[in-house]
Amino acid sequence: MKQSGRFITLEGPEGAGKTTQLARVQEYLQAAGLSVVVTREPGGTALGESLRERLLSPQQPAVTADAELLLMFAARAEHLATVIRPALARGDWVVCDRFTDASYAYQGGGRGIAEDRIAALEDWVQAELRPDCVFLLDLPVEQGRLRALQRGVAPDRFEREGRNFFERVRQAYLQRAYRDPQRYRIIAADHPPEVVGRRIASVLFERMTAWR
Ligand SMILES: Nc1ncnc2c1ncn2[C@@H]1O[C@H](COP(=O)(O)OP(=O)(O)OP(=O)(O)O)[C@@H](O)[C@H]1O
Ligand SMILES: [Mg+2]
Repeated sequence: MKQSGRFITLEGPEGAGKTTQLARVQEYLQAAGLSVVVTREPGGTALGESLRERLLSPQQPAVTADAELLLMFAARAEHLATVIRPALARGDWVVCDRFTDASYAYQGGGRGIAEDRIAALEDWVQAELRPDCVFLLDLPVEQGRLRALQRGVAPDRFEREGRNFFERVRQAYLQRAYRDPQRYRIIAADHPPEVVGRRIASVLFERMTAWR
């Protein structure tokens, strides 16, 4: 039976293991015979990747919180129109490394922008579209930062923020997940990658069965 496309996102703070798990999710879904598009935010298009470079670059002079939020949504509008919606319309599954929950967590929780402002942009840019399943990889702030540092690449503009910023990001993510336990799955990310991967796979199996 042909299944319609589903939209899955991986969320969580720096170093939580999103990019590591993305590859596993892709493999798992492909092994189940599904056609999968893997992408990321900010990014996923030429415009989005150039905005990503600007937004993440530590050389970028200070950006106001509103400009940061609006650029994230500008990139997202392009991404949705040219990559995500066409893929879902074809019946492909889309797996995205960060999406709108990151705007709520970073520009909302982290920078302090009111949630209803973000919700207005979300409704505008996405209309009814929301991820079918959000994996929130959760781990203590210090562990995530340590992992990100151990990667050995220079910290990006967000990674230079202080501990309180990342505590607010984590709490904003968790609050969103608590509100909608059907769509969000909190995955404890302070376990070896294989363990995290198995937990994600078991949720995917359960969801695939329910959606069929
Ligand atoms: N479960 C894990 N246990 C220990 N180390 C891990 C685990 N998952 C990933 N790592 C390592 O931690 C670092 C960060 O992982 P990864 O890049 O996947 O995180 P991320 O969530 O994508 O981070 P960012 O938000 O900065 O992109 C990498 O060096 C990775 O190899
Ligand atoms: Mg990553």
